Amino acid sequence: METLTAPGMVDAHVHLREPGAAHKEDIWTGTAAALAGGVVAVLDMPNNTPPIVDEETWRRKASAFRARAVADYGLFLGYAGGAVDPLPRLAPRAVGLKLYLDETFGNLLLGRDRLAEVFAAWPGPGPIAIHAESASIRIALETAAGTGRRVHICHVPSPDDLLSIASAREKGLEVTCEVTPHHLFLSTADVPRLGAFGQMKPPLLPPAEVQRFWELLGLVDIIASDHAPHTRAEKEGPNPPPGVPGLETTLPLLFWAVEQKRLTWERLWELVYTRPLEIYGLKPPAEAHIEVEWRGPYRLGARGYRTKCGWSPYAGKMAYGFIRCVTLHRRTVFAEGRLLAQPGEGRPLQRAESCSQRE
Ligand code: DOR
Ligand code: ZN
Ligand code: ZN
Repeated sequence: METLTAPGMVDAHVHLREPGAAHKEDIWTGTAAALAGGVVAVLDMPNNTPPIVDEETWRRKASAFRARAVADYGLFLGYAGGAVDPLPRLAPRAVGLKLYLDETFGNLLLGRDRLAEVFAAWPGPGPIAIHAESASIRIALETAAGTGRRVHICHVPSPDDLLSIASAREKGLEVTCEVTPHHLFLSTADVPRLGAFGQMKPPLLPPAEVQRFWELLGLVDIIASDHAPHTRAEKEGPNPPPGVPGLETTLPLLFWAVEQKRLTWERLWELVYTRPLEIYGLKPPAEAHIEVEWRGPYRLGARGYRTKCGWSPYAGKMAYGFIRCVTLHRRTVFAEGRLLAQPGEGRPLQRAESCSQRE
C-alpha cells in the first residue's frame, strides 16, 4: 500500500471556543482534532466570550493555549469598538486582526463608520482578516485601497465575490482570500438533509455555484476549514447558531478531489500550507510532517470524531486517504488513531523575518 508524506495542513481559520464555550470545543479537543485531521497548526479566531480584544483577554487566551494545545497555533486579535490603542500594542503578537463586517456568531460586529479608523490603526505585520458577506466585501476592499492596508477575505461567500477580489488584486490591491471546504463539498442540495447542521455564515451555495468555485479555484489563496463547532442540542434547538466543524475532514475531502483530478497534489499543499504561512508571515511548524495511507475512496462517518461537538456535516460524503501518523517538533504526536502528544506540546507559530504577501 502506498504511503505519502506531506507537510501537513496549516488551517488558517478555526474557532476552538476557549474561553467561553468549552462545552462546544476546547483547546485540547480542538487541537487533538486538528492532529487527527493532519492539521499541524491552526490560526484561532477571536470571537470568544469574552472576545479577545485587549491585553487582559489576550494574555488569558495565550496562556490557555500554552498550557493545553497539542498542535501549533497562532491567535487572531479582534476589535469590539471603543479605543483602538490595544491594536498597535498587540499587533506584533497576533497573526492578524479579525474584523466582522456582518452579523455572525459572537459579539464583534463592526459598524462601517469605524472601518477606516480601525484599518488605519492596525500596523501589521499580519493582515486584516475579514468576515464580510457580499455587500460589505466591496466596502472592505475600498477601505483597504484608501488606507493601504493588506486584507485577507475569509470564507469568500460566492464565485462572483471571488471575481471581484481577483479584479481588485489585478488593480494592485494587496488582497488575498480563502474558501472553505463546505463551500466546495456541500451545497444547498444538502440542506434538506442537514437542516440546521448545514447552516453557517456565509451560507451554502447552489450546486452550480459550487461548480463555478471549483472552476475558479486558481484565484484562491487558501482553503481553510472555518471549523466552527456547536453542540447537537444547540443545532437542534430553536435558534441554531451558524457554523460546522471541519478540522478532521478537510484533507480527506481534498485528497478525494486530488484522486479525481480536480486538484493536483502540489496545488493542494499550496492552498493549505504554503500560502497560509506566507500570507500570515509565519515560519513553518518545526520538524513537522504527516503520513497518509493513500487508499479509498470511502464515505466519511457520522461518528468517531475527536471534535467535542461529535458530528460532521460531511457524513456520507466521499473522501480518500487516511492520516496515519503526524510528526511535530520531531516527535510522533498522533499515530494509528492514537493521540500521543501531551497538553502544552503545541507551540505558538513564529513570525518569519519578512512578511510580504507574495514572494
Ligand atoms: O458559521 C459561522 N460560524 N460563521 C462565522 O463567521 C462564525 C462561526 C462561529 O464562530 O460559529
Ligand atoms: Zn466568519
Ligand atoms: Zn469563522
